[in-house]
Amino acid sequence: MADYKYATLAVHAGQKPDPQTGAVNVPLYLSSTFELTGIGTDRGWDYSRAGNPTRDKLEEALAALEGGHSGHAFTTGMAALSALFAMLRAGDHLVCGKDVYAGTVRLLDQIVSGYGIEVTYVDSSDLAAVKAAMKPNTKLVHVETPSNPLMVLTDIAAVAEIAHSVGAELSVDNTFLSPALQSPLALGADIVMHSTTKYLNGHSDGLGGVLIGKTEEQKQRFLLVQKAAGAVMSPFECFLVLRGIKTLLVRIRQHEENGQAVAAYLESHPKVTKVAYPGLKSHAQYELAVRQQKGFGSMMSFELADREAAGWFLAAIKIFLNAESLGGVESLASHSATTTHASVTEEQRQQMGINQGRIRLSVGIEDKDDLIADLEQALAAV
Ligand SMILES: Cc1ncc(COP(=O)(O)O)c(C=O)c1O
Repeated sequence: MADYKYATLAVHAGQKPDPQTGAVNVPLYLSSTFELTGIGTDRGWDYSRAGNPTRDKLEEALAALEGGHSGHAFTTGMAALSALFAMLRAGDHLVCGKDVYAGTVRLLDQIVSGYGIEVTYVDSSDLAAVKAAMKPNTKLVHVETPSNPLMVLTDIAAVAEIAHSVGAELSVDNTFLSPALQSPLALGADIVMHSTTKYLNGHSDGLGGVLIGKTEEQKQRFLLVQKAAGAVMSPFECFLVLRGIKTLLVRIRQHEENGQAVAAYLESHPKVTKVAYPGLKSHAQYELAVRQQKGFGSMMSFELADREAAGWFLAAIKIFLNAESLGGVESLASHSATTTHASVTEEQRQQMGINQGRIRLSVGIEDKDDLIADLEQALAAV
């Protein structure tokens, strides 16, 4: 399969016809337990927390799409991140990008740090700052690129080199671009994480997360967390993600075409003060986006004058929905300070550069002229 082009992999990796029946879709194995063939012998599965045939196929597909050694599916993106951080022990040090998803910050500050793990937040777009943050006990560097919601990029290859210089691993949350638009493992990262809730599922009808590693050691580590901690993706959610990734590439192409058009429109609007989208030449890291990414995606954020202006805008949109989340076929708009970044303090938001007029868009696959007309009438109401 590895020799096939990406569009072919998306449809066929892990998704061969069922050998028993010829069904072209991976069957849903709704079974918690499996009949054993003897004492200590089985047909490959014994209990679904340890392994389930539907989940196996999704994990195979996702590992292929990221060019990894193994994939491990969890109940949510947060469960995947919890499984990732479970590798850390008291006394270990973790370096985390400073404007990652606020749920990641909440997990680290309110749970992981309680286990005696030291966390340092750093502007991961600043290589000197990343270097300065490294310690002899740094075990993991975790970044999101582009970041949420400011769309700041991290140079994956350069940060991987810094992490490796002290023997740490680099994990990349690749949710915003999907495997179709960025391949962190090929750039030098060690682990890729996704909230499959977003572009991989693609239809806003399921929650899930995945970790993809490069080595057999990581595979055994993540298998242990799946079995021991138990937050594994249900077979039905696996089925939905398997179905979603078959159309990932065609959806992403439309997301991106619409994203480019919406970003250009917003940039030209007098009521919009800033637009953060890596596909705009005005983006400070446009060159890095071209070099590191295979496209620019459809996530962006922009600023209106203040919270009141953001409120008028969100009340007026008709096609865009005022809702959290991203990566589904429908366009969404959200007020960053009170949704994705509600769980951090106002002081942290100010440090991150997220003010009360900041709106994040996940541009869907509707007709782009309709989307722009919707933004036009909503901005007129501001
Ligand atoms: C970039 C990113 N990572 C992780 C998560 C967490 O994923 P989930 O909501 O599936 O737990 C989110 C959720 O919005 C996200 O946007």
